[in-house]
Amino acid sequence: MKLMVVGGAGYIGSHTVRQLLGAGHEVVVFDNLSSGHAQALPAGVPLVQADLLDPAAVKTALETHQPDAVVHFAALIEVGESMRAPARYYRNNVVGSLNLLQAIVETRKIPLVFSSTAAVYGTTDAVPIPEDAPLHPESVYGETKLMTERMIHAFHVAHGLPYVILRYFNVCGAAPDGTIGEDHPNKTHLIELACLTALGQREKMMIFGDDYPTPDGTCIRDYIHVLDLADAHVLAVEALAGGKQDAGTYNVGLGHGFSVLQVLDAVDEVTGRPLNREIAPRRPGDPPRLVADAHRIVEELGFAPRFTDLKEIVQTAWNWHRTHPHGFEE
Ligand code: UFG
Repeated sequence: MKLMVVGGAGYIGSHTVRQLLGAGHEVVVFDNLSSGHAQALPAGVPLVQADLLDPAAVKTALETHQPDAVVHFAALIEVGESMRAPARYYRNNVVGSLNLLQAIVETRKIPLVFSSTAAVYGTTDAVPIPEDAPLHPESVYGETKLMTERMIHAFHVAHGLPYVILRYFNVCGAAPDGTIGEDHPNKTHLIELACLTALGQREKMMIFGDDYPTPDGTCIRDYIHVLDLADAHVLAVEALAGGKQDAGTYNVGLGHGFSVLQVLDAVDEVTGRPLNREIAPRRPGDPPRLVADAHRIVEELGFAPRFTDLKEIVQTAWNWHRTHPHGFEE
């Protein structure tokens, strides 16, 4: 198959491009490089450097490259920033996705795989969280993802657009060979920050709250390795190509979680450089426990994550950060 990967130069996009190529598919990347990195793409992968906010460019790309399906990652992803700059988030994430949907139905009506997030659930008592849990996003970021999910569904009803929506839990890790990995302009993710702290780029790790109702008092998250997540996209694309007719929304996680302290202990062990730690106040908006009910994707798409050992997950992140302490800007 030929896939157009929108946002393919980003962290998750670039790992997915690799897995798609490895599964024998052809790929063209559409990315505005606002936060992605052309260096993250394997040699020979065509890059259309353009913006989803330019509807003509989107249509031209689909007409020129004639893909069989689209995988859509392109979005702004920072929860805090989304609260300070809502217009940017609604415009980029919602209007950008609307332009893509419109271009798809006007040109080729090909299947779409969309990157959504566990942030659509908001704070919930459900442990683990099933896909049909109530949807109450607490950030503008989560709201833009939910609005896009609903637009996609409306295009499915109105135009027969086939789709799969994947709701990611805490994506982490890197390609084990250390050649590509996480490199966002603003670092907020636990494992990335811990690795950069181990490299001496920060003085200490702040633990945001140790008085949560969890066994060790710190928050629990479902850490899913970026290559397993990339494989979930390959499965989704292949299910759609195989004629999967029913549109599907799937959590992507391991189905069990690790606490902040467990993660930091794993980083200490992997790096051999024990982190300075400090207990800090709770971070606003952090629910105590976010764990996926991942049965649906396992049962319906045959998802079988390979990275289930926390130390192994951290080791892949460390391989990347150790060899690229300043990301792609070496
Ligand atoms: N944490 C710390 N110290 C830090 C950074 C994080 O204690 O320096 C804690 C957080 O408070 C949280 C946990 O580590 O309890 C994980 O935090 P991250 O920032 O790595 O990830 P989040 O759980 O906040 O959010 C991520 C994505 C969201 C997605 C969510 C789904 O960024 O988009 O996972 O579970 F919705």
